Amino acid sequence: MNPLISSVKTVFINTFKTEPLLIFSPGRINIIGEHTDYNDGFVFPAAINKGIVAAFKKSDSDKSTAHALNMDNSIEFSLENLKPSQQGNWENYVFGVIAEIQKSGKKIDNFNVVFKGDIPAGSGMSSSAALENSIVFGLNELFNLGLSKHEMIYMSQKAEHNFVGVKCGIMDQYASMFGIKNNALLLDCRTVESQPYEIDFKDHQLMLINTNVKHSLSDSAYNDRRFVCEHISKLLGIKALRDATESDLEKIKDEVTPENYQKALFVIQENDRTLKASKAIEDGDLVTLGNLIYGSHNGLQHQYKVSCDELDFLVDQAKLNNHVLGARMMGGGFGGCTINLVAKNALEDFSKSASKAYKDKFNKECSVYSVELSNGTHIIS
Ligand code: GLA
Repeated sequence: MNPLISSVKTVFINTFKTEPLLIFSPGRINIIGEHTDYNDGFVFPAAINKGIVAAFKKSDSDKSTAHALNMDNSIEFSLENLKPSQQGNWENYVFGVIAEIQKSGKKIDNFNVVFKGDIPAGSGMSSSAALENSIVFGLNELFNLGLSKHEMIYMSQKAEHNFVGVKCGIMDQYASMFGIKNNALLLDCRTVESQPYEIDFKDHQLMLINTNVKHSLSDSAYNDRRFVCEHISKLLGIKALRDATESDLEKIKDEVTPENYQKALFVIQENDRTLKASKAIEDGDLVTLGNLIYGSHNGLQHQYKVSCDELDFLVDQAKLNNHVLGARMMGGGFGGCTINLVAKNALEDFSKSASKAYKDKFNKECSVYSVELSNGTHIIS
């Protein structure tokens, strides 16, 4: 049995002397389409074979418990009047989901959950969506709530808005819930429906490099960006930036700061890149795909300003290597991973040279991962 599953199961059985319901909920990568989701735009994520395993069982006690094995931290709580905990810890993801289920009018009783993950925190692979989805999916199953997958992901997202305080879009929760093995999902964040694309880059593959840094203030910077986008949409008289063209934006240039103009321009261009990337994948045109990925980073760095020195350095390392067709920061930004499109026969070489250069520059290790594209949140049979 997979060691993550067996460790969660063993702790659960040792503690509660009963067989649990086991759920796996994956993290995600994103090929392209960053900060477009909360603009009703397009994104191109995939669920991965890293994630969270959660074990559940109903409890007869008048309290519930949650045990985060990674943190070796266990809490007991009452289901009534759940409030965000001040420390902003992992329990807010759990409490937030429970509160959203309750808000919807569904009723749950006390339960015990033990969970553990193998997504490095702050890596931009969305351990938070994996945790939220594991909780909502597990409770839906345990208490027969009859929630659809769409209802569940909206609850996960709202948990993050209301209990964690990040006004995230829907990409992470969607990808984690709806992932399909060996596929990436071209997701329209307005209709919240996606089209699967089988990913087989033949002699190339995707590789992640984790900067192993997460700069503080990233949550407030994220919310600021979202606010700017909504403000500009209002000025343009549209629902979201997805509905704007570059020439629409040009017309209100005098009404916004140059910085905010660039941010909105980035979103419009990134949306366009994402659609072009799906076409490039259909055509098997990896050079075009790689250039779009580099273009995405350039915009995230210079226009949207959500990158950082460590991410920029790793992307520059990729550019120095002819066997890397594209590289960019992935996720919200300010740290976490780059995603790279690399020739298979150059993986080891690139991984070694980038790691050494990174160590020399920052006196810090980066981590290299290759991931498999996997199914979304499911019961482990
Ligand atoms: C975070 C958010 C997502 C998305 C990305 C940026 O991962 O949770 O909703 O906005 O940042 O693309």
